[in-house]
Parts: sequence; structure tokens; C-alpha cells
Amino acid sequence: MKRLGILWIALLIGLTGLAVSQCAYPGPGGSFLNRAGHQSALDPMGPVARNQAGIFYVTLGVTVFLFVTVGGALAFSIWKFRLRTGDDPAAIPPQSHGHPLVELGLVLASAGLLVVIAVPTFGGILLKNRVPAADAADAIEVNVTGYQWWWSFEYPEYGFHTANELVFPVGRAVKLNLRAGDVIHSFWLPKLAGKTDLIPGQTNFKWIKADAPGTYWGQCAEFCGDSHAYMLFRAHAVSEEAWRHWLDRQRSATVVGGGDYTPLALARDPDRPDAARITHATRLFVQHCARCHSVDSRIQTSGPNLAHFGGRTTLAAGWMDNEPEQLKRWILEPHRVKPGNYMWSGFPDPANPRAVQMEGLRDAGLSEADAEALAAYLHLLK
Ligand code: CUA
Repeated sequence: MKRLGILWIALLIGLTGLAVSQCAYPGPGGSFLNRAGHQSALDPMGPVARNQAGIFYVTLGVTVFLFVTVGGALAFSIWKFRLRTGDDPAAIPPQSHGHPLVELGLVLASAGLLVVIAVPTFGGILLKNRVPAADAADAIEVNVTGYQWWWSFEYPEYGFHTANELVFPVGRAVKLNLRAGDVIHSFWLPKLAGKTDLIPGQTNFKWIKADAPGTYWGQCAEFCGDSHAYMLFRAHAVSEEAWRHWLDRQRSATVVGGGDYTPLALARDPDRPDAARITHATRLFVQHCARCHSVDSRIQTSGPNLAHFGGRTTLAAGWMDNEPEQLKRWILEPHRVKPGNYMWSGFPDPANPRAVQMEGLRDAGLSEADAEALAAYLHLLK
């Protein structure tokens, strides 16, 4: 029985160690466990995250100090005043009542330790809520809206929308206005800043800045329904040159295949071998997708804006790589990828939750060839 208990404790310690080590594993991507390293708050890559990691270490230091001193005093007393051979187990040791100096000292020490945690915490709250003057001058602004289960990113200074992939220049502050389109979500970009809730009816604020170029992984951190766990996003910190290039592209009308053509114009180009397929795809798009999606970045839609979709690295809100087979699967069976999503079931009517306001793909009857054509068309939008 005793041995079984020890076994359980060993198993618990082992599993805890495994879980904790995965939090900081700097894996190159690939397996699910490797990817966990992309979301380590203990590997801060910007001033806000660094400040918050610092507060974590201060708090950890205080709690470890408390654990060692209180636990040590307890263990010492148990050992020192243990029952020795020859002691009378029925004898009661001399009793005392209170010790004002010790009690007062402990109260003051506890309060002092709380102050040690509180001072950097308040400093962190102030930092997170206001962009420092040095960073404010060239900061950019993004309106973030959380929906079940994707992210809308609007760049109000430039007048366009995109979804699920936030792009910004490295070394410059990004002001984030956080809102919710339906239920409460939480914006979490572990390497750049901690969690902030997106709450219907109000706007929360935070800012981020990346030290180094790269792709940072984000995640909704507040349970928001069936596919909460699949509500991811990417934040790409890019060079000033790449940022301007990206901006120009987002602000232009839909550019297909690098040319100044709309998909329809391209499809009419008789020299194009896939012209018929693209025409078919644009028709399907208008028929089945256009009520919730747009390929014009200036338009706010109820589903993710798909302008320049071919330039994104992921699909289904960061859940899958943006490549043709995955996209085909996402179009054909979104309900298997993300349970409960509206693309499959249709958008519910607020007045009558049992009815749908906009039809989903469930009843669209798309064939494999249709899905392939749609995927090819969407990947032309770069
Ligand atoms: Cu959105 Cu969880």
C-alpha cells in the first residue's frame, strides 16, 4: 500500500516535470509537443512580455522563500520535538499562550512580502496600459475583434481588414484595441504579452513590441465554446521594408497572381489554362461564400476577410497550414476540423436560434472538384 503511494507521487512529479519542461521547449515546429515551445511566456521577445516574466520571477522568488522558511520551520519543529524513546506519550508538554513580538513580526513580514509583489505588479499594469512616450511616436494601431472562433484585425489608419494573421514592423509598438463580436475571448501572445480579455460592449487595450523579426504564436485563452482550443492566430514581426510591401498589397484591390487583374478578368483570359476552373470557382464563391466572406480588404464581413488569403501561412484561425490539400479538407468538412463552426452549420438567426440566418456549407453539396477549384482560386489571392 505504502509502495503504491510512493509510485503515485513519483508519477505525479514526472508528469508535472514533463508538462513544465514542454512550456519552455524551443522546438522547431512539427509535432504537437514541439509546437508548445512557440507559446512560452518564459521566453519573452518584447518589453511587455519581459516585464511580465520579471513579475512572475519576483512572485516565484517570494513564494519559494515562503515555502522554504515556513516548510523548514515546520520540518525542524517536527524533528526537534518528536517523541523519543523513554518519553511518556501521555505527558503534555508545557503550554504557552501567544508571543506578541513573533506574531507582530510575522504579520509585518507577510505584508512586506506582499508589497514586494505589489510594486512591480502595479508597474506592470501601468506599462501594459500605456505605450511609453519613446515608442508612441511611430506606433501603429490595430482593432482586434474576437469571434467564435477566429480573429479580425482591422488597421484603421490604413482602412483595411485581415484575419487571423497580424503583421507589423519589428521594433515598433503596436496598439491593440480589443473587442468581442459575440462572447468573451482572451488575446494571448505569450512571447509578446500576457492575456487580456475581449469583452462584448467594451474596448480593452494593450500594446506589444517585438525585439526580433519572426512569427509569434497566439491563442484565445478564455473558453468561448466548442472550438475554443482551435482559436489560434499568428503575429508576424517583419522588417520595415517587408511591412511597407505588405501594406501596399493589403491596400490595393485584390491582386491575383502578382498581376493587376481580378479573378474574373483572369478567368476570361483565354490564354490561361485554368481559366474555366477559376470562373467556376468565382461563381461558387459568390454563391456559397460571399455572404460571410469578402475578397475586398476594405469590407468588414461576418466571417474572416479573405482578401490576399494566398499570402497567409495558416488557415482555420492558425489551426492548419495554408496549403491546397488542407484548404480542400477545410472547405469540404470544416465541422470535422473545428466542431460547431458556422461555416458548416450556417449562421444562427439571433431572433430565432433554431433557424439559420445564413446557410452554411452543410447543404451546399460541394464536390471534391468544387473544393479543389475554390482552393486554387483562394490561393491566387496574394
Ligand atoms: Cu475565443 Cu476561446
